[in-house]
Amino acid sequence: MEDSDKTFDIHARFDGESYQDILDRDTREVPECLRAEQAQYLGSEPVPASHYTSAVRFDQEVDHMWMRAWQMACRVEEIPEVGDYLVYEIIDKSVLLVRSAPGRIQAFYNACLHRGRKLALTAGNKTELKCPFHGFCWQLNGDFKSCPTPWDYQHLDAETLQLPELKADTWGGFVFVSFDEAAPPLMDVIGPLDWHFKDWHLEERAITYHVAKVVPCNWKVVAEAFMESQHAPTTHPQIMTHVTDVNSQYDLFSDYVSRQISASAEPSPLLDRETVSEQRILDDMTSRRYKIYSDVKPLPAGVTARAFMAENVRESLQALNGHDYGAYSDAEMLDSILYNVFPNFSVWGGMKPTRVYRWRPNGRDVDSAIMEIYQLDLVPKDGKRPRPSPLRVLSEDERWSDAEELGGLGAIADQDMGNLPYVQQGLKSSGNNQVQFGNYQDMRIRQHHIMIQRYIDGEI
Ligand code: FES
Ligand SMILES: [Fe+2]
Repeated sequence: MEDSDKTFDIHARFDGESYQDILDRDTREVPECLRAEQAQYLGSEPVPASHYTSAVRFDQEVDHMWMRAWQMACRVEEIPEVGDYLVYEIIDKSVLLVRSAPGRIQAFYNACLHRGRKLALTAGNKTELKCPFHGFCWQLNGDFKSCPTPWDYQHLDAETLQLPELKADTWGGFVFVSFDEAAPPLMDVIGPLDWHFKDWHLEERAITYHVAKVVPCNWKVVAEAFMESQHAPTTHPQIMTHVTDVNSQYDLFSDYVSRQISASAEPSPLLDRETVSEQRILDDMTSRRYKIYSDVKPLPAGVTARAFMAENVRESLQALNGHDYGAYSDAEMLDSILYNVFPNFSVWGGMKPTRVYRWRPNGRDVDSAIMEIYQLDLVPKDGKRPRPSPLRVLSEDERWSDAEELGGLGAIADQDMGNLPYVQQGLKSSGNNQVQFGNYQDMRIRQHHIMIQRYIDGEI
């Protein structure tokens, strides 16, 4: 039989307990969105390794995808007052996000219309947008205001001097921008995410940390390290007693929105279940320095670690912020529920403090990327919204675990990032210029490549 005639089961899954089986044991009613399953077979062809390493491919991605796709630029809470502004940078483009009126956020190309200087470099608050070079000045809404020598610019009218804008819109407390004037409405892209997140209160959350670091690999290499769980037993063996891996669930809800879910307080099905006691699950989980586990007692007889830990998180979060978590399922309190919005935004579902990932190329460098991790906590029930935590940029020499605000996540992120420079180097050394994907576990990654190709081919 020729290789091409080989048949295989495109519906093959781990032969054992599924995530849905674990949900059946939940102590609460599980929301409909977690019961949704939407896998799709997207083909089994290899992808060229050069798609991660070629400068030509990178330029195609920039021109056809990055300059067109909706992308998360910041949180609404980062520019709450009129005059607040912030700079978002992608590839070699700079975008100035401005709160120009109480209910209005505008995104401008961050370039002076005189001789091109960036209008701002960081974040802050201004009553007008004044260029630091020769003093041309704009209103917060982009209308031209003045320049020091108007007699010399009589040939320019107000329309010519109107600051060019990008499309901007908000969802879930995030500000998204697109460089494409013909981009579809943001909600066409967000689509199913809206009903999935309807009870998880993204808008009522505040940034409690925001950490970034340059990673020496292509932006897709780092993004895709967070689109599957099959690396966990090898890369993070210490979490096998209390996080599931090869039975994780993967879903494609639209061209843009995908998800993976791994259960917490349940052991990897690769371990012999008889060797992992419920107390061991509890002990290993609580040893990982997450602030939301508190006052852990010996596990009472007859209670599972999962039920116990879910209640523990409900109680400790309520003590922190006053919200009632009583109706939320164990899954929503514990599990790793990672949603992605194409091309580079990932937001965790559920009621734990929300983690957000964003991956961007590092300027025009095909071989390096910027990884960012945010945490969003619910604003206290009876308290004022705290100011968002400022961005902390880790230097080349700093590890993720040096950012103590990440808690136990830092060590996990170090393990993840530990692979990535060597992925990039290996891709450049590929002997067959091929990367192979699993039909199920790498489904989201394959969709990522398919979508980039569709943009490059002009289908989107
Ligand atoms: S470049 Fe901005 S005022 Fe001249
Ligand atoms: Fe990982």
